[in-house]
Amino acid sequence: MAATEDHTSTEAQRSAYYVTTPIYYVNDRPHLGHAYTTVAGDVLTRWHRQRGENVWYLTGTDEHGQKIMRTADANGVTPQQWCDKLVEEEWKPLWQHLEIANDDFIRTTQKRHTDRVQEFVQDLFDKGEIYKGGYEGPYCVGCEEYKLPGELLPGATDDEKLCPVHKRPVEWLEEENYFFRLSAYGPKLLEFYAANPDFIQPASARNEVLRFVEQDLKDLSISRSTFNWGVPLPWDEKHVLYVWVDALQNYITAAGYGSDPERFAELWPASVHLVGKDILRFHAVIWPAMLMAAGLPLPKRVVANGWLMVGGEKMSKSNLTGISPTDLTSHFGVDAYRYYFLRAIPFGTDGSFSWEDFTARYTSELANDYGNLASRVAAMVGKYFDGALPAATAAGPAEQAVVDGLAKAVSEADRKIGEELDFAGGIAAIFEFVKLVNGYLTEQEPWKVAKDTSDEGQARLATILYTAAEALRATAVLLNPVMPSTSEKLWESLGAEASLGSLASQTIATVADWGRLPAGSTVVKGDILFPRLEEKPAS
Ligand code: MSP
Repeated sequence: MAATEDHTSTEAQRSAYYVTTPIYYVNDRPHLGHAYTTVAGDVLTRWHRQRGENVWYLTGTDEHGQKIMRTADANGVTPQQWCDKLVEEEWKPLWQHLEIANDDFIRTTQKRHTDRVQEFVQDLFDKGEIYKGGYEGPYCVGCEEYKLPGELLPGATDDEKLCPVHKRPVEWLEEENYFFRLSAYGPKLLEFYAANPDFIQPASARNEVLRFVEQDLKDLSISRSTFNWGVPLPWDEKHVLYVWVDALQNYITAAGYGSDPERFAELWPASVHLVGKDILRFHAVIWPAMLMAAGLPLPKRVVANGWLMVGGEKMSKSNLTGISPTDLTSHFGVDAYRYYFLRAIPFGTDGSFSWEDFTARYTSELANDYGNLASRVAAMVGKYFDGALPAATAAGPAEQAVVDGLAKAVSEADRKIGEELDFAGGIAAIFEFVKLVNGYLTEQEPWKVAKDTSDEGQARLATILYTAAEALRATAVLLNPVMPSTSEKLWESLGAEASLGSLASQTIATVADWGRLPAGSTVVKGDILFPRLEEKPAS
């Protein structure tokens, strides 16, 4: 009994590796840009799970505000009906399709969220952090944000001004509403950034935020009274809370803030908030200031990804060029999709998607370098050893180079993916190892060694094929966070489960331990990992 209690309390105190995505607006269906951030978070959290850590991955949807209300109106349904439909028919199914292994999905219309949000703002109001005032200025409904006159672009007429992000006319909004004393937090934020140099990443994002906060911060208008689709202010129900102030709190309401103190202690502060660079200021300025005002700890890191671009513009609902995530997965497969965007675009910078580049990487890196390696090795173990993995009894310097290459790939990938969120660099390190194994086979020429029927010749053949199969055992584990279905197929084809257990139970700490896959494992030539691509569908 005592042992069980001890165990439970240690589990509860074990702080989690807690990662969040932005919660997405459900005015429309998800596009490639949304999927980009969500896949990145999935790979990051799967990697940490493979480290054996206590991981929590949160995503969800942002359902209040004028943008959603107008979309629902235009479609002749209530905002709640609209959100329910989009969440159930579009958002959750896409994440499932892309094999996103989130632990929770928060919707800002859930009572578990709205109740806590009301308590949070009431607390700030009681502390004098929120006061009543008036505001007028240009407002972009697309951004759900007041804009500064200086940042607007000229429109079609002298009076018209456009939002620099959406290139659509802004509206003039005049409201009596409540304000959060954001201006009081400038010095405290700067102090915090200085004491925590890794808080905002990459460096370009950090610099942008520093420059912004070094100018005087203005108080933030946090309520709206011209429409009612939002969380009512508990002390003045004519007002609803500004959608961003409501939305940011999802990170704590989902983590048990105000409802489950033990869980909250385990999850908060979050390890990483993943955000697009368009919403950096909300996460790196407003959110920390709100948390400071509430007396809560600040998240450890806010990491901004760049934009997926189309024709030099941020990919958005209006310039998607008709390509949806499922158009790509039905052609390239889900695993290749997960791989491509993280491999092709250095995380943190903008990048363009192109069908041609995707095809080229699929063919050369996935099908030729990786898929062929797996099928060649399985075929040779089948042909020369009846599918029973032989033992390596004649290893020499060439094999040692493979062992060393693996150790290097693991430590580099662990640092790059697990710590630096440099997915492209981490995946490249693993694929360097795949290249090394291909080079090893080309040099060792097992198909020629097979002709030497002497004991020595057969021992060399056995050693070469064992080395290649053992290398594949490691790549299945290392690429599991990026391409889970492919890794599972490879795991099965190597007959690894019988001796090593499930792929999910393999850890990064042991992946470089050479010789884990025992001789005698049953190797079968399974499905081709990356089948030849069909013709590009006509657009
Ligand atoms: N609802 C707010 C976020 C609230 S978080 C408390 C929001 N939603 S959004 O639907 O517009 O999606 C925002 C996020 O989606 C971006 O920050 C980014 O992470 C991702 N992306 C949307 N378009 C993108 C690209 N074209 N490229 C890369 N990521 C993109 O803002």
